[in-house]
Amino acid sequence: MVAALKPKWIVGNWKMHKTLAEAKAFVHEIGQSAAISRDVVALAVPFTCLSLSSYFLEHGLRVGAQNLYFEKSGAFTGEVSAEMLLDAGATFVLIGHSERRNLFQETDELINKKVKSALSAGLKVILCVGETQVERIEGRFEARLSKQLTDGLKGVGAKFCNQLIVAYEPIWAIGTGLPATVDIANECHAFCRKVLSDLYGQEKAEGVPLLYGGSVIPDNAKEFLTQKEINGLLIGKASLSSELFVKIINYV
Ligand code: PGA
Repeated sequence: MVAALKPKWIVGNWKMHKTLAEAKAFVHEIGQSAAISRDVVALAVPFTCLSLSSYFLEHGLRVGAQNLYFEKSGAFTGEVSAEMLLDAGATFVLIGHSERRNLFQETDELINKKVKSALSAGLKVILCVGETQVERIEGRFEARLSKQLTDGLKGVGAKFCNQLIVAYEPIWAIGTGLPATVDIANECHAFCRKVLSDLYGQEKAEGVPLLYGGSVIPDNAKEFLTQKEINGLLIGKASLSSELFVKIINYV
């Protein structure tokens, strides 16, 4: 029997972009032209756009958030909990994006608390990891990835593997127009898979989708998506344009 092909994940990360009107127009345009059922297509949107979650879903798009706070409730002005995200229609959340790590000083310890809180509330977690340019040049990228995964997943049991997705996003490739080569992406995905295997055993680790992110555009998406070790893409800038996002969904 031929094994069924695993669906590929296409996840957009809108960052701090789009009003409700712009989000609605985008979803409408996608609905007009994409064959969404082929893949798992999802958008990590600003909190405000979660109010449109049913509209996204009606058009075949899963919707998630880009951050959360690990406490359940309380005096944490400006923060949003996992339960609140679920209540607003999010099914997943990005945690540990390099912009959160660098601009908002998020440590692996804080990221770990966020991961545990999101998983135990029932959200899928896309845990983002990736090395800096200097770490790559100095050959320290494996140590960096290993630490981000091991510390980020500290105390997370194997039963949560089916809610876990890992995105490998080298910092030097994010928003630079200089994506990783397919060889680098493959090498780092294989390395992340090995770390996950050490943590959870090979079978569980193989079930965790690994996404590549960093300067993905329609011209390079297909090559990444045809690699065995790459189970999907995390796309920033190109996910803001319905035209470009549709091309990627359709593997053009
Ligand atoms: P980019 O961003 O596609 O614009 O490089 C990727 C990301 O930050 O997730």
